[in-house]
Amino acid sequence: MRRLLLFLFILVTARHCYAAADPSALINNIPNRTTISLNGPWHFIVDPYETGLKARFYTNAKPRDKSDLVEYDFDKSDVLNVPGDWNTQKKELFFYEGPVWYQNSFSYHKREHTRVFVSFGAANYFTRAYLNGEALGEHEGGFTPFNFEITDKIHEGENFLVVEVNNARRRDAVPALNTDWWNYGGLTRDVVLVEEPETFIQNYVIQLAKGSNQELSGWVQLDGSVSAQQVTLEIPEAGIKKTVAADTAGRAEFDVTAPLELWSPVHPKLYDVTLSAGADKVRDSIGFRTVETRGTQILLNGKPIFLRGISMHEEAPMRGGRAFTQQDAETLLGWARELGCNFVRLTHYPHSENMTRLADRMGLLVWSEIPVYWDIEWENPATLQNAKNQLRDMVARDHNRASVILWSLSNETPVKPERTTFLRQLADTARQLDQTRLITSALNHVDEAGPDTRILNDPVGEYLDVLGLNQYLGWYWGRPEDADRMQWKTAQDKPLLMSEFGAENPYGRHGTPDERWTEEYQVNLYQHQITMLKKIPSLAGLSPWVLMDFHSPRRFLPGVQDYYNRKGLISNQGQHKQAFYVLQKYYREIEPAK
Ligand code: GCU
Repeated sequence: MRRLLLFLFILVTARHCYAAADPSALINNIPNRTTISLNGPWHFIVDPYETGLKARFYTNAKPRDKSDLVEYDFDKSDVLNVPGDWNTQKKELFFYEGPVWYQNSFSYHKREHTRVFVSFGAANYFTRAYLNGEALGEHEGGFTPFNFEITDKIHEGENFLVVEVNNARRRDAVPALNTDWWNYGGLTRDVVLVEEPETFIQNYVIQLAKGSNQELSGWVQLDGSVSAQQVTLEIPEAGIKKTVAADTAGRAEFDVTAPLELWSPVHPKLYDVTLSAGADKVRDSIGFRTVETRGTQILLNGKPIFLRGISMHEEAPMRGGRAFTQQDAETLLGWARELGCNFVRLTHYPHSENMTRLADRMGLLVWSEIPVYWDIEWENPATLQNAKNQLRDMVARDHNRASVILWSLSNETPVKPERTTFLRQLADTARQLDQTRLITSALNHVDEAGPDTRILNDPVGEYLDVLGLNQYLGWYWGRPEDADRMQWKTAQDKPLLMSEFGAENPYGRHGTPDERWTEEYQVNLYQHQITMLKKIPSLAGLSPWVLMDFHSPRRFLPGVQDYYNRKGLISNQGQHKQAFYVLQKYYREIEPAK
């Protein structure tokens, strides 16, 4: 009932017109909440036929006596580390796709006036969670956080959490059956208990209003009994302290004008922000900047900016598997910085909060994307709702990150009416959720207009602020040198980001510039691409494919690929290929003097 009221309230108050999609139940800013980590070794059972549902594995049963029949025993089962994927922890699970049951026992001391939630940073792909044998709920989507309230289910003393994670690919899922990345399964990010007062700050946005570099505009959503609850926003360094009353739906809205140092790649200024309501107090580090477009330019804080970027997967350098540690983020973004980047395209799904918070601190602009990848079931309403939910939660987690400037709705999707309608609805949802950022997609539908002219001509471009273009001239079509003559145009007069191009070769494999699978070929391709890019009038940036070689189930060439996509500028063992320095040189040339 309260959620319906909230939904209607939002629809009515067009002035701020934030979230119109179903409100997210997500508790944001978990890193700064009161939490108890459940990370570490969890027992697991691989259950290819999902027998555990009928066998009620979630009851974590033990034989009552010597004649009782129980055909599983978590305590005697092997363990997997959480967070982490199972594919790179157990050799025998490298190719495994299907259900795996996790079990963790923990003791807890209950406290008065305290609500408890269990929060998952991410679990790929479909999750069912149970506490002490009771169902908590389900979640679909491998890369966005979710939480369940367990206040009435948690026991004083011993508790057990049983979680089924199933990464089986499905036609109606997002992504669907086919991806060029490894389908790492498991509890891939932190699992923590979150303790909150009876009324607490569930989520909030504090950002500069669109087009203003002085007016802070935002909201706080309370969860709990909210009657006449006062909510206070404090930013001491900016001399801001403002208290407003929450409405009956638990929503408090802020509009504050104050002189602020703006966040940017050269000056990643973060402010300590505190929100308090009743017994709850939430701290965060937030940067304030504006981002918009003007014609074919992207403006950061009102000034044109060129995005010197690189695309990357969330794969751990050296050890492989899903990246999740702070160190993984520092290594990957450190390499992007070494390359001379001011921008990273995090593909093709929301990466961990470690990444976006580190990007805030390092001053790296971020493209964040939901995995609407290649072809999916465009006409399936459940698939659309699933995509909307992933978009909603991607935004709900990172809408206070100054680094994040682009929400990407999809990657390389086929041009057909049902797809365009699907993406249009996602664009509408994204704009309802967040008016302060730019909406984009990585497109690849190109028309030929003569031997040396290509036009990015995709109807979805109408609904986007920025056009992303993936083109593989010199690799999947044409020769690298053809780029010298190639002209690119776009059907819509909007900023263009060359979101992907690249060539593939393992580190240390050498040959002539026209010899595929060699470093020299990759160097040659990058040199010609850079010549071509310099001539594109509407180009506002690029993010070549890709920072680091990554595992892919679609790459088979023995001694060359071996289940790796080798288009990295760096090998999965951290070795810098020659092309890395070609791009680095270009970025140093175009980097504005400080
Ligand atoms: C595509 C796609 C990537 C893929 C890359 C490649 O454009 O977006 O996910 O890995 O091309 O073929 O290497």
